[in-house]
Amino acid sequence: MSFIANFRNVLLALCLMLVLGFLYYSAGKLHRYNWGQDSQYDRLGFLLKLDSRLPLELSSQYANLSDGACKPGYAKARMTAIFPKFSKPAPMFLDRSFSKWARIQDFLPPFGLKGQDGIIKGILSETKEYGITPALDSLSCRRCIIVGNGGILTNKSLGSKIDEYDIVVRLNGAPVKGFEKDVGSKTTLRLTYPEGAFQRPELYEKDSIFVLTGFKPQDFKWLKYVVYKEKVLSDGFWKSVATVVPKEPHEIRIMNPYFIREAAFTFIGLPLNNGMMGRGNIPTLGTVAITMALHNCDEVGVAGFGYDMTNPSAPLHYYENIKMSAIKESWTHNIAKEKEFLRKLVKGHVIADLSNGI
Ligand SMILES: *[C@@H]1O[C@H](CO)[C@@H](O)[C@H](O)[C@H]1NC(C)=O
Ligand SMILES: *[C@@H]1O[C@H](CO)[C@@H](O)[C@H](O)[C@H]1NC(C)=O
Repeated sequence: MSFIANFRNVLLALCLMLVLGFLYYSAGKLHRYNWGQDSQYDRLGFLLKLDSRLPLELSSQYANLSDGACKPGYAKARMTAIFPKFSKPAPMFLDRSFSKWARIQDFLPPFGLKGQDGIIKGILSETKEYGITPALDSLSCRRCIIVGNGGILTNKSLGSKIDEYDIVVRLNGAPVKGFEKDVGSKTTLRLTYPEGAFQRPELYEKDSIFVLTGFKPQDFKWLKYVVYKEKVLSDGFWKSVATVVPKEPHEIRIMNPYFIREAAFTFIGLPLNNGMMGRGNIPTLGTVAITMALHNCDEVGVAGFGYDMTNPSAPLHYYENIKMSAIKESWTHNIAKEKEFLRKLVKGHVIADLSNGI
C-alpha cells in the first residue's frame, strides 16, 4: 500500500515540476524576446551601443595604412557595423537605365519618379553624362565631404581641410567667394532644388557639376527648361526661382531619388504617408547628401551641420546675418529626428564631423 501511495506522490511531484519548469522556461523566453537579443537594436535597426570599436577583421584590414591615407570601404563598413541592413549599392545620379531602378516607379516625387519618365528621358538624352568626372570615377578610394550651410563654420578656418577631400559637395546657394578661409574653395558637386539655386549667374563656380535634387514634378520640368535653354516658367514654386543657370548640359546631373526615400523612411524614420510628401516627412538636403555619400564614398566627412539652439543670437548660416532664433517650426522637416540619425552616424564613426555641431 505505502509503496503505491509513494509512487503516486512521486508522479504528482514530477508533474508539478514539469509544469513549473515549462512555465519558467516560457516566461524566460518571453522575457528574452522582449528585452534580450532584440534590444541590441533600436526600432529602425541601428545598434543601440554605438561607441563600440571597429570589428576585429576591419581594424586589421586598416591597421597597415599610413596615417591619413584613404581607407577603402570604410564608411560602408562602419555603417554596416551599426546598421546591418545597410548594403544596397545605389548610384549617385540617374542614367538612362533609371526606369529599371528598384521601385523608383512606385513612388511620386520626391521619393520616386512615378509619372516623370518622359521628362527625365528628355533631360538625360541631352546631358549625356551620368558619372562625376572620369578622374573621380576611377579613383580607387574617394573621400567626400558635405559642407552644410551652418553658422558654426564661421571663424573655424576649416577651408584648407575641406579642400583636401576628393569630392566637395555644397548645397543650394551657399557661397564660396569671400568665405574660402572657413569653407574652402573647391566645389565638385552643388546639390540644388529650383528655389535654392543661385539667382545671379555669376555666383556659379566654373568647374562644379550642377545636381538637381527634385522634390516636386515642377522641379524636373524646371531642369528641362534649363537643359534645353528655354525660357523658365516659374509657376508652382514656393518662392522665386533661378531663371538662368549658366551650366552646359554635360555639367548637369539628376540626383538618384532613392537617397531621399532611404533617408526619410529607412534612416530617420519619418512617416511613410503612403509614400507621398506630407507633413514632416521630407529630409533636409544635407541629410540626403550624406545618404548619397554613404553609398558612393569610401570616407565621408561633414562640416557646417547642426544648430546651436542654446545660443539664439548665433548666426544660422555662415553667409548672412539671420540669427538662430529666426528658425521656425518647419512643416516639411523634422529637425529633431534628423539630428538623432546624424548623431548615430557620428557616434558610430561612420562620418567625421569637422565642425563638431552634430
Ligand atoms: C600588416 O602588417 C603586419 C606586420 O608587418 C603583417 O603581418 C600583416 O599581414 C599586415 N596586414 C595586412 C592586412 O596587410
Ligand atoms: C569672426 O571673427 C571676426 C574677426 O575677428 C569677428 O569680427 C566676428 O565677430 C567673428 N564671428 C563670430 C560668429 O564669431
